[in-house]
Amino acid sequence: MTLPRRQFLRYLGIGTYAALLNPLQLAAAAPRASASTGLSAWTPSFFEPINPTTADQLRLPAGYRADLLGAWGDELGFPDPTRNRELSFGNDNDFLAYFPLASQHDSLEAEQGLLWVNHESPHPLFVSGYSREDAQAEKPKTAEQIQAEKRSVGGSVLYLRREANGRWRREYHHRYTRRYTACGPRFGFDGPAADAVASLSGQPDCPGTLANCSGGATPWHGVLSCEENYHFYNPQTPRTLRWSDQPDEAIAETQFGWVVEVDPFGELPPVKHTSLGRFSHENIALRCDGPTGRLVAYMGDDKADECVYKFVSAQPLPASASRLEQRTALSQGTLYAADFQHGRWLALDWNVQKNREKWQAYNATARQTGGPLITSQADILIHTRIAARVLGATPLDRPEDCEIHPADGSVYIALTNNTRRANFYGQILRLIEDNDNPEGERFRFELFLLGGRHSGLACPDNLAFDRRGNLWVACDIASSRLGHDPYQAFGNNGLFMVPTTGPGAGQAYQFASGPTDCELTGPWFSGNDHTLFLSVQHPGGHSPSLERLSSHWPHGGRELPRSGVVAITGFERV
Ligand code: FEO
Ligand code: CA
Ligand code: CA
Repeated sequence: MTLPRRQFLRYLGIGTYAALLNPLQLAAAAPRASASTGLSAWTPSFFEPINPTTADQLRLPAGYRADLLGAWGDELGFPDPTRNRELSFGNDNDFLAYFPLASQHDSLEAEQGLLWVNHESPHPLFVSGYSREDAQAEKPKTAEQIQAEKRSVGGSVLYLRREANGRWRREYHHRYTRRYTACGPRFGFDGPAADAVASLSGQPDCPGTLANCSGGATPWHGVLSCEENYHFYNPQTPRTLRWSDQPDEAIAETQFGWVVEVDPFGELPPVKHTSLGRFSHENIALRCDGPTGRLVAYMGDDKADECVYKFVSAQPLPASASRLEQRTALSQGTLYAADFQHGRWLALDWNVQKNREKWQAYNATARQTGGPLITSQADILIHTRIAARVLGATPLDRPEDCEIHPADGSVYIALTNNTRRANFYGQILRLIEDNDNPEGERFRFELFLLGGRHSGLACPDNLAFDRRGNLWVACDIASSRLGHDPYQAFGNNGLFMVPTTGPGAGQAYQFASGPTDCELTGPWFSGNDHTLFLSVQHPGGHSPSLERLSSHWPHGGRELPRSGVVAITGFERV
């Protein structure tokens, strides 16, 4: 059964966009007299854009407020089974997804619910005390340090409530509160590469999850969390992050780099979906409004010169089935890689004879160079980058978030940058499926936004749409480059609103500026758009030492900087 787009969006808890969005109304919005960006005479009607700043603050437009819901190290109210203290909120929060609880299916107004939070990476200086000097001196990490780092990543489920005064707060010791880390709970695997992963690792399941960057939500109210830089923890990577100093703590690489699914309600066991391929997964955006109702997912591989992918489920999404049955849609289907030169999706399918011949030709060389062989569907899914490039998929300038426009189904893709190609500011592409058919194999694309001072932002990373069809863009200028050319004019990393229609279309209007060294990540609107949940990731992340901290956010004074999640309110009057 096909889920109409409106119903599907409701399932995701992000509103009845298609019904509410009227491009003509947007186009007719009255232009205002001035723009603080100086780029256009038009400015948004619901906030006065702020200017770039280097202040160590989370700065918002007048009339908006941010309430802190949790920060790294906060105790959650339950004992940690692996040590003599409470479970604590993880580090480096990224993707957020809010699930209203009062009425999951009907109410967008619920003011209590569950918030999923990704915890992307440990910051060793803060989490385990392992410094850059320790790394330069090649001092091995202790098992205790590695355990502390492993417990700081993964994800959290928080229970939130909105008080009568309009402020959100996290409830301590609520039964839904949960942590997923690199130490547990264990994840199973499904899909065509599940047996091969078990065979390679010698284990039927996996000790946990890590490198959880961005993600997505499913129609059955599941969280999809994307494992991105899983390779940072093996012997070849920067020493500050590696866990292989202690052989018992080393990770089996083939167990990571997947899209993992977690049930925030705790009913379904956690699982890693091998059908979605293995690479540096940034995020995943779902739709199921094609002609046969198959579930379609778009994904970026966050690395310079890597590709964009699409998954189409083998069967239509069974809308009336149980949640467990619905999620099998992500276990069998076709994975495609995008060829932008020819506007086609390339099937990463061992059963497609002409593609198999290309992998077999590649194998002849790989046997001589020692590269991985592609001899089965499982090999394709484990070595997805190689399989895609052999077929001719297009390398792009760090494809990060992909998000689907709520009104027209086009896919917006953030390309953050590629300094090796002198692309310092990045861009946002708009991909349009032929005949508006997400299940098809042809597409076209256009440039929606080119980063730089003329558009107002640089290095787009996380994307989100609001109910008006405005695109919200969180930027990721590397901490070490903030304040330096060619990024000096942009100040700290920020969050921007970019209209997709009307007089301001393609122009970035700054809504938030983050504290020193941070990235703002994971923007997620509540179903009625009254609240924007936002992560402040790695404030002070470029601090040279604990004595010379570059940020003290959120607690100020001389406090350690802590990644944290905020609820931003003030949208009610929009
Ligand atoms: Fe984890 Fe691609 O940012
Ligand atoms: Ca990201
Ligand atoms: Ca990022």
